[in-house]
Amino acid sequence: MKTIDQINFKGKKALIRVDFNVPLNEGFKITDDTRICAALPTINKILSADGSVILMSHLGRPKNGYEDKFSLKHLVNHISKKLNINVKFASNCIGDEITKMANQLKNGEVLLLENLRFHSEEKAGDKTFAEKLSQLADIYINDAFGTAHRAHASTAVIADFFGENKCFGYVMANEITNLEKILNEGERPITAIMGGAKVSSKITIINKLLDKVNKSWSAEYPMLELLITMSSTCILPPVIVSVVVIWLLVIIFPKEPPIEPLVKLPPALELEISANLASASDLVYLSPN
Ligand code: 3PG
Repeated sequence: MKTIDQINFKGKKALIRVDFNVPLNEGFKITDDTRICAALPTINKILSADGSVILMSHLGRPKNGYEDKFSLKHLVNHISKKLNINVKFASNCIGDEITKMANQLKNGEVLLLENLRFHSEEKAGDKTFAEKLSQLADIYINDAFGTAHRAHASTAVIADFFGENKCFGYVMANEITNLEKILNEGERPITAIMGGAKVSSKITIINKLLDKVNKSWSAEYPMLELLITMSSTCILPPVIVSVVVIWLLVIIFPKEPPIEPLVKLPPALELEISANLASASDLVYLSPN
């Protein structure tokens, strides 16, 4: 696949799948904008090349259509400030009105689409929905590393509608390069540190990492340590162990139990990682010891 630096964006519309699933407080203020800041280089690259940008993302897990608390309208001002331009907002992500807004977008402008998950077709990976999204732009960029494990319409299915006109953004490309560098070429031993709030979605990653890493440390949720240890020592398949452990922990400890990490990091580093990565994505730190 091409890299973002090989594409000429002049006069083109780029549809970027970002992961702007950011935490909001009760007043709908963003409490951690790490994911927004991470996407800025990709967005700015296109704007400075005289292209225009259409941003699409999910926010939270809406159950059945529109829910005000999950509207991406709450992010518009913050993104505008970060980019130093007035970001336009579309109150849906598909439909005639949105197509019109996309068509009218001028070079140097940014349009943010409403939460993709207000349409059940997004999580279902629906082809027709993906095709409608694809019709909004000339080029597709996937920069949603935090959502890369989901085969949804906007993250996976949509890519087929762009032929050669697609690439990863800087966030995605950097994460992949770093992972490959460490997992395939890095010095041994390797320590994997994981953070984030959704343990269930990390089981696949833990299982993949088990035969690659030598030690592990979980920044936010020490119970991952237990999971890794049990998965690697038990004769049952890791998936079964994982499910049983999570089930037991949820029943016995609704709040995560304090389990000693396998590796003691210097307190300053521990604090820094926890503070910075509490709401970050699945794999947060992977480094030679
Ligand atoms: C995340 O925050 O982990 C990603 O944005 C994915 O969100 P999801 O778990 O709701 O798919």
